[in-house]
Amino acid sequence: MTLSAPELAAAFTDRFGREPAGVWSAPGRVNLIGEHTDYNDGFVLPFAINRSTSVAAAPRNDRAANIHSAFGGGSTASTHLDDLRPGSIDGWSAYPLGVLWAFEDHGIRVPGVDVYLDSDVPVGAGLSSSAALECAVAVMANDLSGAGLAGPELAALGQRAENLMVGAPTGIMDQSASLLGEEGHAVFGLPQQEAQLVPLDLAGSGLTLLVIDTRVSHEHSTGGYASRRASCEQGAKAMGVAALRDLGTDDLAEAAGILDEETFRRVRHVVTENARVLAAVDVLRKEGPAKLGSLLVESHASMRDDFEISCPELDLAVETALGAGALGARMTGGGFGGSAIALVNNDDAGAVTDAVTRAFAAAGYTSPAVFTVLPAAGAGRTEG
Ligand code: GLA
Repeated sequence: MTLSAPELAAAFTDRFGREPAGVWSAPGRVNLIGEHTDYNDGFVLPFAINRSTSVAAAPRNDRAANIHSAFGGGSTASTHLDDLRPGSIDGWSAYPLGVLWAFEDHGIRVPGVDVYLDSDVPVGAGLSSSAALECAVAVMANDLSGAGLAGPELAALGQRAENLMVGAPTGIMDQSASLLGEEGHAVFGLPQQEAQLVPLDLAGSGLTLLVIDTRVSHEHSTGGYASRRASCEQGAKAMGVAALRDLGTDDLAEAAGILDEETFRRVRHVVTENARVLAAVDVLRKEGPAKLGSLLVESHASMRDDFEISCPELDLAVETALGAGALGARMTGGGFGGSAIALVNNDDAGAVTDAVTRAFAAAGYTSPAVFTVLPAAGAGRTEG
């Protein structure tokens, strides 16, 4: 956090002239493995990270919603809850206001509200700053409205806000990780079933997970994300299945004969990535995180060559990290920029960081931000 919970409460009081009813916060996420599988009804293995978005908030007696963000230079959005509808807002406030809209659209009346928010999840870095913001507002609105919704229901409202109010056709992985995460665990998301927690004891295994933020920014409401999703839907339709999750690696030979070359590669990524998630869960349960390396490397190659969502900066980060001793590395998140992750033995973290920083300088790229993350607890009330 940039501001601690008491500091955020004090900032709320300075701004709105009264005490907040509480402070709620929600983490960003790193996806360990399982990329572009969620909207194909497939498997994912993200974890909530120790970077989060926090909101101090208090209900109002009217239907106004005033949201002040201290993040990114500071700005305020004000609206009337009855004016919210898809297309009525754009910019950053579509995320928090979109969640309030999603509650009401779901039949839950939320009170007017004053909100002061801050975050230390970098925006556009592939760490789901958007889900952190949505989920912080979702747990706040859940408490203030007395709705008592459970994590998976809140995740669905966050996703609906992002799909309909922001206009990004994203899946439900990020919100699930932010809401359901637990310290020392990854969240194994599987279709039509409750997510399962899988131990991810990095510290106990002498491992560090580095995030390499390439500083290449991306958005999922434009371009590549939607076109990849469309290819997957087209591939599923041509193969006669409801979702790509229904295909296994045994079906790929047949798919090669039916699909055009590009759609086939998109499908092959999703099918093999699903298999890699299941293998990763097995490895974590039986052997521990140090044995994940080759699955991470295969996942990156599949995203680079078959799904084509990497970029030169992400590829350089991954190759350099591996060359400097990382056990495994891959891009994480939706792609087209954002961050790579590198799994390293504690003793190698410095050397990998230095090597990546030097390689970016040599290539003339903007210097990356390299930092460690830990599997942290999911969203909830932190004060008041
Ligand atoms: C973004 C989306 C997720 C998921 C990933 C790719 O983070 O929000 O739903 O599709 O991309 O795995």
